[in-house]
Amino acid sequence: MRPEEAEVYVCPACKRPMQLRIRQQRDDEIVDGALACPCGEEFPIVDGIPDLVFPRQLAASDLEAKLWYDANADTYDENLHLTFDTFREDESRVRSRLVDRLELQPTHRVLELGAGSGRDSILIADRLGAQGRLYLQDLSLAILRHSFPKMMAKSVPSEFHVGNACHLPFADGVFDAVFHFGGLNTFSNIGAFFSEINRVTKVGGKVVAGDESMPVWLRNSEFGRVLMNSNPLYRYELPLQHLPVSCREVKLEWIIGGVFYVIEYRVGVGEPFADLDFEIPGIRGGSHRTRYYGLLEGVTPQAKAMAQAASANSGKSLHRWLDEAVRQAAVRDLEGK
Ligand SMILES: C[S@@+](CC[C@H](N)C(=O)[O-])C[C@H]1O[C@@H](n2cnc3c(N)ncnc32)[C@H](O)[C@@H]1O
Repeated sequence: MRPEEAEVYVCPACKRPMQLRIRQQRDDEIVDGALACPCGEEFPIVDGIPDLVFPRQLAASDLEAKLWYDANADTYDENLHLTFDTFREDESRVRSRLVDRLELQPTHRVLELGAGSGRDSILIADRLGAQGRLYLQDLSLAILRHSFPKMMAKSVPSEFHVGNACHLPFADGVFDAVFHFGGLNTFSNIGAFFSEINRVTKVGGKVVAGDESMPVWLRNSEFGRVLMNSNPLYRYELPLQHLPVSCREVKLEWIIGGVFYVIEYRVGVGEPFADLDFEIPGIRGGSHRTRYYGLLEGVTPQAKAMAQAASANSGKSLHRWLDEAVRQAAVRDLEGK
């Protein structure tokens, strides 16, 4: 970790800036030290890699994933072709098209979560220049280590940390793009994962995230049943309900034999725009907002019929007629007349 990176990281627990404690530095690299937060959390830097995992006591599914990737890190690259072979897909072409979705510029600052052994990281790095920056994160240091040699030849400066994709150690709006592929289904808090991504991405920045999910229309086919039997991860459902309201231009596509989803979007601010206040033409009248917020108690069928007839007679919409009638009656009673 370079000393200037201490300004980029914040406490994954409370999001406050942290103090850098250096115990050993070699040239431009902090080899041994810690990042300490005023909230009391302290995160070690070991062999140059900050361990920003939060919470320390991982949720069951995160712990299970970490232990699995710790144990299988050395054979991950050897075995991954099996997935692509099953669907006769070209892995580098598939991954390249995934990374293209980020629409990267050479100067972009990019975060990859659950980067694993760096198979997408090298493609992201190829699209960035010396003025850009790539942050690679994984919960398992054992698998992340396999990305180190792959990244050495790349011109973009890269920073590695061990962390939990559901609790990011970055300030708001620091990344031009965020990428994740392959681990999302088992993340313990998918809502927090997307909300953290949107927090750390600049407004207008691009997000691409995907994982396994057998499409609902194929679940009862032979294709679906056989594949879900071999790989239970295909049973996971789409995580669309976890997307924050600030997602814009959302695109969804199934790739790799149609059994992996990719969600792509831009980060916006708050809810999307809609004009809720223009007067809707017609007999009912009113606006989207008055129809939602303006509902009062019901009236008798006779009173309703009278109101409809009276509004038609007056040439006003039912909304306008009622609004005026209610205001007149309210003023009368509020003023005690
Ligand atoms: C299937 S691998 C995908 C690796 C890489 N993205 C790829 O496409 O080859 C899933 C990765 O997600 C990581 N992972 C699992 N849970 C995580 C979490 N909560 N936070 C960060 N990484 C996590 C695993 O350690 C593993 O490296």
